[in-house]
Amino acid sequence: MNRIRNVAMMLAAVLSLAAGASHAEDAQDTVAFGKKLTTNNCAVCHTFGKGEPNGQGPNLFGIVGRPFASDASFKYSAGMKAAAPGKVWDAKLLDAWLTDTQTVAPGNAMTYFEGDPARRQKIIAYLSTLH
Ligand code: HEC
Repeated sequence: MNRIRNVAMMLAAVLSLAAGASHAEDAQDTVAFGKKLTTNNCAVCHTFGKGEPNGQGPNLFGIVGRPFASDASFKYSAGMKAAAPGKVWDAKLLDAWLTDTQTVAPGNAMTYFEGDPARRQKIIAYLSTLH
């Protein structure tokens, strides 16, 4: 009886380990796919490496946790600056921004949106790794 219980417990432990591993793989896939989406869709205007020069838009290294429109080396639009007070970039604000930048900062100059929530989530997962 005891042996059967031990085997059952071991099996449960192995299964939960396997589930953990596959979650980790899912997270890795999400970030890898997010990187691809970001490279394909944002890199025409943004750079992502530490200290890289701005493009048409500001460098986005460390964007998660950075105050809104706060890169001193970038000349933000008036709309962007007007919307900045009190805002810090987090996943929720990035999601709103990529859905429709004009609801976040009316009159801003970024002419891009991503309508697919799953793709936005992957892009944001990748951006969160840039620290
Ligand atoms: C066509 C060019 C273009 C594309 C494509 C683009 N952006 Fe932008 N982005 C800009 C510009 C320009 C600004 C600055 C807007 C302003 O000052 O009004 C900006 C601003 C931003 C900001 C605010 C940064 C800050 O310092 O507060 C974030 C975040 C951002 N973009 C993320 C993205 C992401 C993520 C993508 C891809 C999914 C993307 N952008 C695609 C041009 C672009």
